[in-house]
Amino acid sequence: MNTVIVHAPGSVSNLGSGFDVLGFALNEPFDEFALRRTEQSGITLINESPFELPADPEQNVSGRVLLAVLQKTGIDGGFELTQRKRILPGSGIGSSAASAAGAAVAANALLGNIFSKVELLGLAMEGEVIASGARHADNVAPCIWGGVTLIRSLDPPDIIPIPPADLFVSVVHPQFEVKTADARAVLKRDVPLKSAVQQWGNVGALIAGFYRNDPELIGRSMADVVAEPYRKALIPGFEEVTKAAAAEGALGGGISGSGPSLFQFSKTREVAERVAAAMAHVYRDLGIDYFTYVTTINPEGVRVAGQY
Ligand code: HSE
Repeated sequence: MNTVIVHAPGSVSNLGSGFDVLGFALNEPFDEFALRRTEQSGITLINESPFELPADPEQNVSGRVLLAVLQKTGIDGGFELTQRKRILPGSGIGSSAASAAGAAVAANALLGNIFSKVELLGLAMEGEVIASGARHADNVAPCIWGGVTLIRSLDPPDIIPIPPADLFVSVVHPQFEVKTADARAVLKRDVPLKSAVQQWGNVGALIAGFYRNDPELIGRSMADVVAEPYRKALIPGFEEVTKAAAAEGALGGGISGSGPSLFQFSKTREVAERVAAAMAHVYRDLGIDYFTYVTTINPEGVRVAGQY
């Protein structure tokens, strides 16, 4: 076997109240990567995505991961990666995590599955950090493990898969960029005790909601008093989208990662479709282009879709 093709899912990080510690993988959208071993050393990058990506492997998220794989294994030769990305960088739905985890999982498959999931996480983080400038694993971990994941600790890594509930997800991606570094810069360094108590009450209840497969408990535990109050100012239409989604019967949601995408959970596909349409309507009225997705939680993470 010389070539592996993987599908790497988008992901929603933070998951409402779980700032930096919770995330889940999406069935749509996903990226495709084809990875081939080469006799030539180093990394060759081919971009077949409908947008530009850094061509220098040191600056490219997947390239950096593959360089880390070469360094960790000391194997001869190199890799050629063909990138067919659909998840737009800067969308808030885990584009860089898909690039990082996709490259790590593809390399692992080509090399005969020599790495554990925790090692894959370490490799993927090497790429994720150049895109977001911060060490957070709440996109990369769900992208590798699939489903919903809790990052109890990063040093040492302690990733806890949470059973995904039967929920539908509506995502609206308005076409402007919020840089993760900017969205982190607006956050307060200190959290008042009252807010901390509210937040950990919600995170605990959210985890219980997933274990009980209780949509209402999940919905009301999404409230985020740590990041959302400061970040929503960076996202025109946030309040209107939240209200419109609730009016259509959404359970709850929030900012996907550091934005600008917004997500909402619903119990049925019909409601999720109506919620997505209502979210889209807000951006149409504001004259801002957008994409919407109606999807479900992806239970398996990066998937080997072909090898030859
Ligand atoms: N947890 C990170 C943040 C995700 O909210 O800053 C960034 O995509």
